[in-house]
Amino acid sequence: MSEDASAKKELAAIKGTRDILPGEVECWQALETAARVTFGLYGFRELRAPVFEATELFEKGTGQTSDIVTKEMYTFTDKAGRSLTLRPEYTPSVVRAIVEHRLDLQPGLMRYYYMGPMFRYDKPQKGRYRQFHQVDIEVFGEKDAAVDAEIIEMAHVLLERIGVPETETLINSVGCRVCRPAYGKALREAARARANSLCPDCQRKVETNPLRIFDCKLEACRRIAEGFPRILDYLCDECRDHFQALRGWLDLYKIPYRVDSRLVRGLDYYTKTTFEIVSGGLGAQNALLGGGRYDDMMKDFGGPDICGIGFAMGMERTLSVAHLSVEKGKPLYLAYLGGEAKKTGVELGRFFRRNGVTCLIEFKDRGMKAHFGRASKLEAAWVLVVGEDELRKGRFGLKEMATGRQVEGTKEELLAVLRGR
Ligand code: HAM
Repeated sequence: MSEDASAKKELAAIKGTRDILPGEVECWQALETAARVTFGLYGFRELRAPVFEATELFEKGTGQTSDIVTKEMYTFTDKAGRSLTLRPEYTPSVVRAIVEHRLDLQPGLMRYYYMGPMFRYDKPQKGRYRQFHQVDIEVFGEKDAAVDAEIIEMAHVLLERIGVPETETLINSVGCRVCRPAYGKALREAARARANSLCPDCQRKVETNPLRIFDCKLEACRRIAEGFPRILDYLCDECRDHFQALRGWLDLYKIPYRVDSRLVRGLDYYTKTTFEIVSGGLGAQNALLGGGRYDDMMKDFGGPDICGIGFAMGMERTLSVAHLSVEKGKPLYLAYLGGEAKKTGVELGRFFRRNGVTCLIEFKDRGMKAHFGRASKLEAAWVLVVGEDELRKGRFGLKEMATGRQVEGTKEELLAVLRGR
């Protein structure tokens, strides 16, 4: 490799991360706006937590036996010798923030949303990145299964708004601390019997947390896990009633769903409901969003005993199947000729911008023909002409690029034209 090529490689973006460039970023902004508007309608407010946290937060929240904590965290020691981790997910951060600021004592709904980057050291592939972005929502203090259904309904509203076709909703219940031990025992026994055929990672999980075997991505382990006992057969009365109620609410919303008794969702904190919305248009990484209930996390963090439920949507995956129509702006390009015209042009630009018109000024002195060439390259809708003649008259030229229509007038008159009056 030449020195030049190797220097370029060294300076490239890190594997599993990517730049979101102008041209693409408009779709991201449209998704963010759609999410803000949708969540606002359901009483959610934004809560922004830091990008890195104490490693212990995720060990305790996300869970010691999850793949995320055991294999995928970006953990480092800072200069003060503390172990810190770039957040692999957002849920533990929200719970920490609530406990730290006692948000439970404040009036108002405990419904929060956030969007931003998350970090997981997983094998990069289509739809899986090491820095990826989530839109995350969380609800606290509402035990009723109606809220489980409501956030699923809200997810569908958002997906519809951004033009995501062909989705499937999967639901399950993973039980609670009352019923899960008996299930864990039955599962461990079944897994022990097949341990020799499982991958080394799953063999370890048989003893640490057999539920996590369902997260294995290997086809052989998946097939074996198909034959394991179903958690739905072990639910206690409360969990069974909750699951039934969720199904009733989804029926009321007329949201079709499929019960997938193996949907345990890779994180240790879930209780009762888990769900995912998957896309038909994606390959192996087909989950657009996933979530569930986590009624014990807050008290496990030393906070009040307040239940929680939420979901996170992967922005990269969702955008890859969304059909967003992003409106193009109608910018005005300033074509000035000479030093005096440049000064007047800048003042005009200031006037138009203050009145909401996007005004492109490139500080490169050029001739009128070159200005028009540039305006067309930049896809300007209008060109404002300021030359000696215009300066003398105090009236300026405006040309509509698409039609060739030309207008002359004062800045106020031209503003009216730009506003379509
Ligand atoms: P999760 O299933 O780990 O859940 O992630 C949610 C979504 O983030 C996935 O469905 C996927 O779209 C996206 N995602 C995850 N990992 C990657 C990756 N490496 N590259 C690209 N996209 C990815 C959670 O994170 C939970 N915190 C959700 C939750 C909120 N549960 C309760 N509240």
